[in-house]
Amino acid sequence: MPEDFAPSPSGPDPSGPSPSGPRPPGLTRRQILGIGGAFGLLTTAGLASAAALARRPAATGAELRSTAALPPPFRTPLPLPAVLKPVATDGTADRYEITQREASAEILPGLRTRLWTYGGTFPGPTIESRRGRPVTVTHRNELPVPTVVHLHGGRTPAASDGYPTDLVLPAAWPDPAAGPDAHAMAGMPAMARDTQGMADPRAVTSRLTRDYTFPNDQRPALLWYHDHRMDFTAPAIWRGLAGLHIVRDDTEDSLGLPAGPRELPLMITDRAFTADGSLHYPSLDPTLRERPGVREPYLAGVLGDVILVNGAPWPVHETDAARHRLRLLNASNARHYALEAVTDDGRRLDLVQIGSDQGLLATPVTHRTLPMAPAERHDVVIDFAPVPTGGLVRIVNRLGTGRTRDVMAFRVARPAADDSRIPPVLATDLPDWRRQDAARVRDFSFRAGRMNGGHGWLIGGKPFDPARTDVTVGLGDTEVWRLVADVHHPVHLHLTGFRVLTRGGRPPLPHDAGLKDTVSLRPGESAEIITRFDGYRGRYLFHCHNAEHEDMGMMANLEVV
Ligand code: C2O
Ligand code: CU
Ligand code: CU
Repeated sequence: MPEDFAPSPSGPDPSGPSPSGPRPPGLTRRQILGIGGAFGLLTTAGLASAAALARRPAATGAELRSTAALPPPFRTPLPLPAVLKPVATDGTADRYEITQREASAEILPGLRTRLWTYGGTFPGPTIESRRGRPVTVTHRNELPVPTVVHLHGGRTPAASDGYPTDLVLPAAWPDPAAGPDAHAMAGMPAMARDTQGMADPRAVTSRLTRDYTFPNDQRPALLWYHDHRMDFTAPAIWRGLAGLHIVRDDTEDSLGLPAGPRELPLMITDRAFTADGSLHYPSLDPTLRERPGVREPYLAGVLGDVILVNGAPWPVHETDAARHRLRLLNASNARHYALEAVTDDGRRLDLVQIGSDQGLLATPVTHRTLPMAPAERHDVVIDFAPVPTGGLVRIVNRLGTGRTRDVMAFRVARPAADDSRIPPVLATDLPDWRRQDAARVRDFSFRAGRMNGGHGWLIGGKPFDPARTDVTVGLGDTEVWRLVADVHHPVHLHLTGFRVLTRGGRPPLPHDAGLKDTVSLRPGESAEIITRFDGYRGRYLFHCHNAEHEDMGMMANLEVV
């Protein structure tokens, strides 16, 4: 591995020392990243050293350098993804259609970027839905590879949850059921055949289209849909396969929170671009047809040096001097953020958190710095009233370095009346699962290890295998899961939200409040979560949402019976 790659610091200490900063004696950088070597960090250095690492920044990947000319920050207006119109609607349900296809967009000024899109845009169109009113989305795959759609945070029947081998095949793709001969005739090597669902007898594939039904029978929340194809999720999301899905209800609407133009969905991602504007990504197989994985320095995660919000580089948004509700999603593959809102004179505005992954908190939590791991959502209110007209409020990432310290900015354009409010009690319906109600306590480690003779990321020592059931839970059972990590791992459960009980044996952090579906484990850290598996029976998943880790094995099956 070249010594010159530049991991971005990301960790509990946001002061941002140099990426090559102090390292414990006897550990190479490779071992700190938990990659290569024999079995990575924990078996090399032991858990005590891993815990010591939790006190210093730890890399969550290596950063690609763009060779395209990059625009100055805060010039591009913030785009808002279009809200998708239903193709049919009746008294009880809405139907939508989305065509997945290649498209190009001007992301960097004067350059065209080829993307894989939902409906021609990145982010894809936003689906606005009401609690309890089902939505069916017909996805049509006109991309050159199989795809599968997952609604992240959705309480979704297994058949529509986007299991990684439930592929929608493009028109010209061999039928997995046709057996190896058809694949060999199509020129696909044995390894590709394995990764196209053939090794999974339960896979349900379809040709060209598939209907996904989302009951939306869940707390109002910002969800997001993204590709979930086995072994190729990270590059597919990187190319643009991500969009928002919002669930609302009357109770939330009646709270008086900032709304209309003062409610802004913000999908934050990082990307890198080559000189002609193409997306840069270190795939072993740039066609994403056969060989999964990324080149060596990027095994811990792929970071870009350009921060996009709703698909625009370091955008700016003109606002009233009033409260705004920011519905934040970190849709980056591997980059962590510690967000702050900083005024021209260097003051930090309060970030009043009102919701998390799975909807409103019980009561607001005020932050100055808000950490955000991949796939996490934070619902935050910022009040721009104290900012003078013309003032700029920068949203910065304290974990970034150089240009990745900036995320976006708000230009306060005019004074304005504001009748919004933040109620002291936001929700009374949060589950109060108690430890003593747990039918079972389980332990899972999230660590680097060996997989297929190379580097992998493992749960409980094993790489993902669709044919193996890792965990069987009873419908309606409450369980406590104890999770332990070697390096940063944002752990995500499908189907159900959970609450964080403890972190490192202590009470959870302020931003762990509410109902979560992704919890960010820091290096050497353990956490306990509690959940109740209700909703639907069937085959689900849990996995690390560092998308590169997910593709390199860090995923497991969860069977609800
Ligand atoms: Cu957003 Cu299975 O994940
Ligand atoms: Cu999910
Ligand atoms: Cu991970």
